[in-house]
Amino acid sequence: MTAQIIDGKVFAARVRGQVAQGVTKLKARGITPGLAVVLVGDDPASEVYVRNKGRQTIEVGMASFEHRLSADTSEADLLALVKRLNADPAVHGILVQLPLPKHLNADLVINAIDPAKDVDGFHILNVGLLGTGQKAMVPCTPLGCLMMLRDQLGRLEGLNAVVVGRSNIVGKPMAQLLLGESCTVTIAHSRTRNLADVCRGADILVAAVGRPEMIPGDWIKPGATVIDVGINRVDAGAGKTRLVGDVQFETAVKVAGAITPVPGGVGPMTIACLLANTLTACCRAHD
Ligand code: GUN
Repeated sequence: MTAQIIDGKVFAARVRGQVAQGVTKLKARGITPGLAVVLVGDDPASEVYVRNKGRQTIEVGMASFEHRLSADTSEADLLALVKRLNADPAVHGILVQLPLPKHLNADLVINAIDPAKDVDGFHILNVGLLGTGQKAMVPCTPLGCLMMLRDQLGRLEGLNAVVVGRSNIVGKPMAQLLLGESCTVTIAHSRTRNLADVCRGADILVAAVGRPEMIPGDWIKPGATVIDVGINRVDAGAGKTRLVGDVQFETAVKVAGAITPVPGGVGPMTIACLLANTLTACCRAHD
């Protein structure tokens, strides 16, 4: 048996198309959704993300505001910028790219964002709303994973879901979303005992630990749906590198019922969901 490949590129293009339609409707009312992205410092990976976000924001018809600050920006200056963006009616979504330089307190900065404009869903209020099953801004990567799972499986009720990874950005909100779908949820991580056996019980396995190819095919229940959030750059020999997930694709694809590839799986969905969240924030602001 070979797993069905869940094509995140096609899925993300569909989501962006829906967002673009929503933007067109708002523009007919004289409203242009706007997304502000703040990048502090010159981390090369963050540069790439921010560039892609800006391009895709414009492609769906939204306004893109980029704020690039030097690596030695003070916390006071960054907080002052966030305050200005909070007050700016042309800005409906604010994203402060993480990680921030070490001298800046990321929690303090994130929690200074107006929760209604927190399109990352990282503000403590949105975390609490999600955790209590209320209307929240939902973090983009887990939201994209959930969309793909729903599309693949329909109702998720009663399924055993194992999330490997406990980060605030992916693991924890992913678990909350799956709980909201009435799955039986286990959060596992690098210290979990008998991780292989825990994974083998999963109808839905979400891998978000950031360890290249840590989960081999024989940890996967036959027919399970596998969502691989990992994006790890590894040595490919001859001075080259390649991207791999947290799941060993070659062995997993022979056992799973469906699986997301890396690259081209979850990755493209993150920005698509960011745009969807920005549209949602704009609609709520003009309700
Ligand atoms: N850095 C890596 N992923 C993300 C994300 O989803 N949001 C933000 N703000 N920073 C990130």
